[in-house]
Amino acid sequence: MKSKATQDLALIIFGASGDLTYRKLIPAVFDLYKQEALPSNFAVLGVARSAFNDDSFREKMKDGIRQFATAKDASDEELNTFCQKLHYLSINTDDGKEYSKLKDRLDGLDKEENTAGNYIFYLSTPPSLYQLIPKFLAEQGLNNEDKGFRRIIIEKPFGTDLKSAIDLNASLLENYEEEQIYRIDHYLGKETVQNMLVTRFANGIYEPLWNRNYIQHVEITAAESIGVENRGGYYDHSGALRDMVQNHLLQIVALVAMEPPMSIDSVSIRNEKLKVFQALRPMSDEDLFKNIIRGQYTASNIKGKYAKGYREEKDVNPDSRTETYLAMKLFIDNWRWGDVPFYIRTGKRLPTRVSEVVIHFKPAPQKLFPQSVDLNNDENQLVLRIQPDEGILLKTKMKVPGSGYQVKNVNMDFHYSQLTDTYLPEAYERLLLDCMTGDSTLYIRGDALEATWKFVQPLIDFWDKNPDAPLHGYPAGSWGPNCADDLIEGKGLTWRYPCKNLSDDGIYCEL
Ligand code: NDP
Ligand code: BG6
Repeated sequence: MKSKATQDLALIIFGASGDLTYRKLIPAVFDLYKQEALPSNFAVLGVARSAFNDDSFREKMKDGIRQFATAKDASDEELNTFCQKLHYLSINTDDGKEYSKLKDRLDGLDKEENTAGNYIFYLSTPPSLYQLIPKFLAEQGLNNEDKGFRRIIIEKPFGTDLKSAIDLNASLLENYEEEQIYRIDHYLGKETVQNMLVTRFANGIYEPLWNRNYIQHVEITAAESIGVENRGGYYDHSGALRDMVQNHLLQIVALVAMEPPMSIDSVSIRNEKLKVFQALRPMSDEDLFKNIIRGQYTASNIKGKYAKGYREEKDVNPDSRTETYLAMKLFIDNWRWGDVPFYIRTGKRLPTRVSEVVIHFKPAPQKLFPQSVDLNNDENQLVLRIQPDEGILLKTKMKVPGSGYQVKNVNMDFHYSQLTDTYLPEAYERLLLDCMTGDSTLYIRGDALEATWKFVQPLIDFWDKNPDAPLHGYPAGSWGPNCADDLIEGKGLTWRYPCKNLSDDGIYCEL
């Protein structure tokens, strides 16, 4: 990764004894270290209640790096040198009086490690602490940027509905400027998600077609093959709408739909994204009935092995009506997208893990040639594959060699795996580095955050008031409720059923 100019700094991780720190954050910091992207003087201070000391924290983090870093095969020497930068402080994080210990420790680190009073506070704790920790830091003057920069990264979930998101924003803004607040959405850290901006705005050929005149509909999928694993307690109060749609999927919608920014900078890009959220057509009562399909996985057999239903998962209410699948049709009411349907779907326990955007182009105005095979979804498609087998695929038509003019679909594809010697940074790596350099482009601005909650709030209210609204069971390992195909307008049109390999699709492609 190309190293950007970073100032000396300390990264303070709250929730340092937790899963995210172990699996994602410290491995990402280590990968930055390996890429020589960290500032010359740098330290991590892990903070939590658990009784670690510097040594035991370092041992645990080494284990996380060995399992989850990209550079997991680094030498022991490199790992040990890096781990000298890791420190730990045990305090009761929900008690404001304890924060003077943190301030003292940071003063000490500035002297020992020359971290220059620049601090990034990463909140990787339960969301109940997202208002408290910033307030306690401010009581110690740790929000004040006179002696160095002070930035706060906030993990999701940022609120659980519109009101709680507004309250959290307001509470943070009491002590911090918007520029100091970095609301994370790890999808924006994915290389392939950022590449959407380049595909759209660095190529002359797509943009003229990128509108209601040539695009029939847009399809966005974020499918997972795993279930809720050990996060049933959290997920049962969240569901797919809050867990994936309000954040990751709507962020992708914005990148697909936004106007070209004036320049590639945080303000211009985030202004254009906000306009998309503001143009989302509010869901009417009729839309809530007709344009939303929610589902929950039921027990089944996958590849000969019993797969639990959602209600049997640990920490899930056995009568739960939480959605583990959600598909919806939405519209963006502006000149570019007037009446073009956007279909988005996400689900757990689907056949494969795949995230992608499919741009479905309108058919040629005249059908001159007979089709060799009568396929559904056979018009031109541009598939922007986010993961796995990252790449881009254009489905186009060609003449079947031989006599006559039989036409068939062929794939023109690019796979990131073809790029040899290119380092693809993990999402958290890119996002942490951006925060270190003060670049908030890939973080969510407060106004955009509230706009996305405003869009989904009618659905939250609808389900609250109508707990018996349809919830379709779907067997674990299937593509979700069959009726989700009925959402798609147009005779014979269905979702694309993508495979792990970008170039393949079809319901039965993976065995
Ligand atoms: P964990 O439950 O594994 O860790 C939470 C951490 O918070 C622990 O280190 C805990 O340490 C600390 N903590 C401090 N105060 C409290 C308190 N009062 N009650 C409970 N814990 C407390 O969570 P994760 O690491 O998985 O997630 C952290 C945050 O990141 C969550 O908000 C989650 O939603 C979000 N997130 C996590 C993802 C993941 O993949 N894990 C993905 C996306 C978001 P101690 O008990 O020692 O104080
Ligand atoms: C997280 C959700 O934000 O994203 C998880 O909380 C989900 O439920 C995860 O599994 C998916 O991320 P990715 O990068 O694996 O697609």
